Amino acid sequence: MSSRITVSTEADPAVDWLVVPMLQEDGLPGFAADLDGRLGGVLTRLRESEDLTGKSGEVVVLPDVPPIAAKRVLLAGLGKADKLDVPGFESSLRTAARKVSGKEGQSVAVAVAAYGDLAAETVAEVATRAMVVGSVGQDLYRKEPGRHSLTSITVIGDEALLEPAQRGEVVGEAVNLTREVVNRHPGDLYPETFAKRAAVVADEVGLDCTVLDEKQLADEKMGSMLAVAQGSDNPARLVRLAHRGGGDGPVVALVGKGVTFDSGGLSLKPNDGMVAMKMDMAGAGAVLGAMAAIARLNLPVNVDGYMGLVENMPSSKCYKLGDVLHARNGTTIEVHNTDAEGRLVLADVLAYAVDHGADRLVDLATLTGACMVALGEEVTGAFTNDQTLCDELTVAATKAGEYVWQMPMHDHFGELLKSDVADCKNVGPRWGGAVTAAKFLEKFVAEKPWVHLDIAGPAFASSNKPNREGGGTGAMVATLVELVTAEG
Ligand code: BES
Ligand code: MN
Ligand code: ZN
Repeated sequence: MSSRITVSTEADPAVDWLVVPMLQEDGLPGFAADLDGRLGGVLTRLRESEDLTGKSGEVVVLPDVPPIAAKRVLLAGLGKADKLDVPGFESSLRTAARKVSGKEGQSVAVAVAAYGDLAAETVAEVATRAMVVGSVGQDLYRKEPGRHSLTSITVIGDEALLEPAQRGEVVGEAVNLTREVVNRHPGDLYPETFAKRAAVVADEVGLDCTVLDEKQLADEKMGSMLAVAQGSDNPARLVRLAHRGGGDGPVVALVGKGVTFDSGGLSLKPNDGMVAMKMDMAGAGAVLGAMAAIARLNLPVNVDGYMGLVENMPSSKCYKLGDVLHARNGTTIEVHNTDAEGRLVLADVLAYAVDHGADRLVDLATLTGACMVALGEEVTGAFTNDQTLCDELTVAATKAGEYVWQMPMHDHFGELLKSDVADCKNVGPRWGGAVTAAKFLEKFVAEKPWVHLDIAGPAFASSNKPNREGGGTGAMVATLVELVTAEG
């Protein structure tokens, strides 16, 4: 995992692509003006003919550009300066990255400066992250890949940009790791193979790794999680990754739902609802990616990453409607729907994290379709018992360029989980389904500060767009790294 990033003040590097971000404004600022001079005024002429506007998402390629040393120039539109934010900038640079990564072995240089309100350091970090993420496609199982990793990424700017640029690379690679595990098909990635992969990653980046098998999980009284797993021939696993950079300081736990395939169990999903359910481990995938980045960046914080890994299948051995489960923390749960399995997994893993020293918890889960109905495909729902932690997370998300929206947690939602025969049911009525799911989880965090992130929408993209590949997105990885960075 050596770095592909260099920083150089050389304005005319010999690369395959020179990427120049362009605001939508009058005249040609800094780097573009200089480039225009060296290219005999071609940018000015393109401006005049309105073939170069700088509008957000615009990509103008100049394929033959003597006398400059780069083989091609790509002008990436950023839109108006006063509207530019991290998601907008990242989106423009990812569009550029997708364009430059169609061929094998390409090298890229990006002209970095402050654009709009974005400082040069932010631009450097987000630009390299976008280049790393945008140049990797959904090609795991294709004979002819559509995207190719870039051989090198040069940031044109001063030496102080090296650190943010390298950080962008590390986070980008973490996002790609999450995307990769989400994209792996369920015959390839199931609890045992996911746990093995996590152990390999832990070894590479220097994380402590513990894997509990189904027998150890039974010894640990994880009856809720194991009930979900019991219908499958693929046994459950719990992975714990530990990073100790913070001495005697507090421990943050990141807890991920890792349902490697969600058929719905006996409450079987219809075909259309099941077809993408390899992605139901995206919470665990985000934890793996974030932990890898946290270790590589050597952040001065104590973080434990937990991944609850199961497959939810119908069979003669599977858990049934009406079953009463005994969760690790002593709570009994009456099952009313076997498709509300994610919360049953998280219940035990959250309790386990609390028992193993978590002072604060953030869980991530593709938990409810209801959250997608509420917030759409791009926004993560946040649910909390601690406003301070939730505010910190929202700030981190804004810095990272991801969309998070806080949802209500009034007590009356919790009433909807009352059961006639057990301490609670695993589902409430139809309305408010994302909130009742969160109220269920709250029972297992022992009143520790906690935020639940429902990533059902943002974790997986159904189709390609100019600025992103379909499939796993790596949602919330950058936000988690930002949150942990702020703790240090
Ligand atoms: N994994 C699903 C939620 C989901 C749906 C994620 C669509 C991504 C896209 C979860 O396990 C589930 O099935 N939830 C049920 C809960 C219901 C039974 C209360 C749902 O959302 O329908
Ligand atoms: Mn389900
Ligand atoms: Zn699920």
